[in-house]
Amino acid sequence: MPMIQLMNIEKHFAGQTVVHPLSLTIREGEFLTLLGPSGCGKTTILRMIAGFEQPTVGEIFLDGKDVTELPANKRDLNLVFQHYALFPHMTVEQNIQFGLKMKKIDAAEQKERIGEAIRLTQLTPLAKRYPHQLSGGQQQRVAIARAIANKPRVLLLDEPLGALDLQLRKNLQAELKQLQRSLGITFVYVTHDQEEAMMMSDRIVIMNNGKIEQIGTPKEIYNRPQTLFAATFIGENNVFHEAERMFAIRPEKLKAVRDREQKAKRKGIIQDIVYLGNVHKLMVHLNDEQTTVSICLDFTDEDEWQIGQHIGVDWFDADEVNIGL
Ligand SMILES: Nc1ncnc2c1ncn2[C@@H]1O[C@H](COP(=O)(O)OP(=O)(O)OP(=O)(O)O)[C@@H](O)[C@H]1O
Ligand SMILES: [Mg+2]
Repeated sequence: MPMIQLMNIEKHFAGQTVVHPLSLTIREGEFLTLLGPSGCGKTTILRMIAGFEQPTVGEIFLDGKDVTELPANKRDLNLVFQHYALFPHMTVEQNIQFGLKMKKIDAAEQKERIGEAIRLTQLTPLAKRYPHQLSGGQQQRVAIARAIANKPRVLLLDEPLGALDLQLRKNLQAELKQLQRSLGITFVYVTHDQEEAMMMSDRIVIMNNGKIEQIGTPKEIYNRPQTLFAATFIGENNVFHEAERMFAIRPEKLKAVRDREQKAKRKGIIQDIVYLGNVHKLMVHLNDEQTTVSICLDFTDEDEWQIGQHIGVDWFDADEVNIGL
């Protein structure tokens, strides 16, 4: 079941095209992430879905209904921003309650929804505190609790963890994914952090310059990138050029061939040896191409490699991923 449909939408600001014509269907209950570098149009798309921005061209359907002309407060969705805007003079509970009061939800139902939102976001011991008595991560959990208490069909999240430190972000990523699964709400999530997108999403939309580069599951995008941008934006990749085509091969698919006489597709010289804890890599400068490739080492190979050593670089044809001309 489609929950959100963007149909040939475009957005221009002052004559400049910020979102090029694009269509996208987001399924009910899906965790979909818009991923791309700064300025590629992620927030603009989210704001159009929310109703804070009108598409210049095209239509937006929410749960089968055309909402293109519908104001934000009439759409059955909630938006969570990077910078949580909590009311400083209200406790956690009161912050969550505020929107429910405005919607004139009856008192018993309010109580129940607040209780559930607090429990789901693990805020129970903090319910009576004020925002200044909470850490950044806790405040962001309140912002999320406030959104889910409204029981929206769709939750839009614009870099909700962007202001938090790495460890906290990782914890909240896992929590949010869990929360989304247990609620079954459709999440549209914006981030420029590829690891975050890979870790949380059912599907990822890779954006660049206001255009969609690829849509797919994390696995599809990792294994079968379709464009140069997709191949190099998600994880590390080696790009090879041949007369009529360009293809990519992941570092873990390249093999370092020790004996120079042994057959290998390319030859090169080891430029660097990198130990990254669980991954050991060779950086190899290829002889015939002005390029350096990265090869993940096989731990069964016990012999030492030396910088400056000549080696062969090989791979299986099946591991070549075509990414265009
Ligand atoms: N109200 C506006 N008026 C003019 N240009 C705008 C407006 N809002 C956004 N833009 C431009 O549209 C482009 C896309 O902006 P947007 O905020 O959607 O990017 P983003 O992908 O969310 O980036 P970031 O990761 O930095 O948040 C940018 O070039 C931005 O300058
Ligand atoms: Mg943005």
